[in-house]
Amino acid sequence: MSRFLSMRNAFTRDVPRLEEGSTVRLLGWIASKRVHRDKAFLSLRDRYGYIQLVVSKARSPEAFDTVSRLNLESAVYVEGTVKRDERAPRGAEVHVDRVEVIAPSDVWPITKDVAKSPEAMFDMRHLTIRGPKSRAVMAIRDGVVRAAFQYFTENHFVFITAPTFITAAVEGGATLFKLKYFDREAYLTQSSQFYEEAAICVFERVFVIQPSFRAEKSRTRKHLTEFLHIEAEAAFMEHDDIMDVEEELVKYIISFLSENYEEEIKVVRGAPLPVYDDRFPRITYDEAIDILNSKGVEISWGDDFGADEERVLSMEFETPFFVTGFPVSTRSFYHMNDPSRPEVTLSSDLMAPEGYGEITSGGQRIHEYEALRRKIIEFGLNPEDYGWYLDLRRFGMPPHSGFGLGVERLLRWLLNLPHVRDATLFPRTPSRLYP
Ligand code: 4AD
Ligand code: MG
Repeated sequence: MSRFLSMRNAFTRDVPRLEEGSTVRLLGWIASKRVHRDKAFLSLRDRYGYIQLVVSKARSPEAFDTVSRLNLESAVYVEGTVKRDERAPRGAEVHVDRVEVIAPSDVWPITKDVAKSPEAMFDMRHLTIRGPKSRAVMAIRDGVVRAAFQYFTENHFVFITAPTFITAAVEGGATLFKLKYFDREAYLTQSSQFYEEAAICVFERVFVIQPSFRAEKSRTRKHLTEFLHIEAEAAFMEHDDIMDVEEELVKYIISFLSENYEEEIKVVRGAPLPVYDDRFPRITYDEAIDILNSKGVEISWGDDFGADEERVLSMEFETPFFVTGFPVSTRSFYHMNDPSRPEVTLSSDLMAPEGYGEITSGGQRIHEYEALRRKIIEFGLNPEDYGWYLDLRRFGMPPHSGFGLGVERLLRWLLNLPHVRDATLFPRTPSRLYP
């Protein structure tokens, strides 16, 4: 075992309980420091969060001397004795007997002035992610992915991955990132949906959790150019069935987070997550247009919702809700038209309440060859660009449905974050490609 592995206590999933009088050995970073006469009060950050250290000259002159000289964010090894204190983080403080510097830090550049400017904070994101709030957001984000994996596995969905380099648009040409692929042109994927559709003929139910890319110039609080996309697709499921899956998944994620991330949720949000016992309301696109018109929003039947419309509409709700039956003009070509009303599609968006808006889009796909070919042409697209996707419809493609959920959108809503960029480690937006 390496020197470091033998230095630390064993890794555990849960925060280890610190028993009065026991000896602890910690590896971590100095997150804050206050020296008062011959005592130093430090906060050490390790994988579990924060812990208070007291270093006194009387108890250990050497340790006191070392920490007095150390800059914030130095990495250290600490040995000490636990003193229970229920008010302290983790219910204890550690009275330090020995400190060893593993990696010293330069003067920490995140000053109060830097912290006042969100842009400056994102310019230094490689360092500012160490702060308590971004730490909590990232821990909860891990929880979202963990919960989704667990939900899908319990419901017999199989995890697959899809390529990032692709040759044709899923969600319209306007937001495609073009790139050189040796001597050809390729694009970055907007959605793994088409590959999932191929894979449902193997596993019936599949899901992916991987980045999608959008050359989205709109500077809103909800658009990234790269986001983490949870997508699922299921054979033998109709539109209503997939809405049930979306609703169950979102409720599952919320309870999982409430059970496992109470502390982190408190740090970011100040209050527990909402509990939704009732079924999410389902309104039609037509009803949504009526609500918007009654609120003075000028929108006509057939227009897609923009950020403003979603904000106004979702202000009318206190729980997530579905909007169903989007017009053909607002949805990609692959959507199945409603047989009882061909001008609308069998599609829906799950909207978060209180101004947040869309977090998922889903629906039933066209599974018949001729119907899909006709719609591709109707949309002014070239069937040859969708060769293999169309081909699937010649070889036993059953009715099927699916959806996509944006992880940063979900987190922004659940944690009341100002912007989706706060929900990802290294955000990519039209103006941000660094760090
Ligand atoms: O609504 P979208 O574009 O739908 C699709 O991509 C479908 N092919 C998904 C499917 O059925 N498999 O994207 C799905 C979700 C949105 O509801 C939103 O949560 C998120 O992905 N999303 C974005 N998140 C952040 N920034 C962006 N630019 C996003 N675009 C979509
Ligand atoms: Mg959408």
